[in-house]
Amino acid sequence: MVKISPSILSCDYSRMGEEFVNMERCGADWLHIDVMDGHFVPNITLGAPIVKAMRHVTHLVFDVHLMISDPVKYIPDFLKAGADIMTFHIESDSDPAEAIKLIKEAGKTPGIALKPATPAEAVFPYLNDIGMVLVMTVEPGFGGQSFMVDMVPKVAAVKAKCQQLGLDNMYIQVDGGISEKTITPVAEAGANVFVAGSAIFGSENPATAISNMKKLADSAGK
Ligand code: DX5
Ligand code: ZN
Repeated sequence: MVKISPSILSCDYSRMGEEFVNMERCGADWLHIDVMDGHFVPNITLGAPIVKAMRHVTHLVFDVHLMISDPVKYIPDFLKAGADIMTFHIESDSDPAEAIKLIKEAGKTPGIALKPATPAEAVFPYLNDIGMVLVMTVEPGFGGQSFMVDMVPKVAAVKAKCQQLGLDNMYIQVDGGISEKTITPVAEAGANVFVAGSAIFGSENPATAISNMKKLADSAGK
């Protein structure tokens, strides 16, 4: 069940298509696509047309992380462009129930993301309706930040609630500062999807970085 989802925020944007194909060759399970609007977070990345163009180069699952103020307004565009997992922030201005509905109607998987200051309990009312919880392990906005170890109990709280509700197939994703050095405690706490940008794209051997992280997470999760 462990998935590694390289964050393309750290890729070489001048060769984006090749980078996506290379990640598939290197053993990535999903591709994490960070969408930022310069409003919800102080940075701007890319929009649905880029996702649509990239959809032609790989069959990997597109794990789209919306860090935008009004997800409901843009979710239809990203779904049409080829997003498979569509994650929005609970702290955004949109109604979570409406966002979930849009994603489910398209037959795709809704995910809810929590910023570091947001408690695990904020997502509990929606757990039965979503397929993934994303626990941010850095402040969203930029790649290359340090992993916040104090987010580990939040991952454990989400995991415990999912177990209590019998939601054994829930993806619990962590994003921010994940590397071979930091993956073990979050995997032990119950995370099963690991986003990594700089640890993969900044590595001399991304395939080895991916396989090492997968092995560490697999053994920690047992
Ligand atoms: C941060 C993004 C992350 C980021 C992770 O706002 O959501 O996906 O790219 O990058 P690293 O792994 O370098 O912390
Ligand atoms: Zn992300």
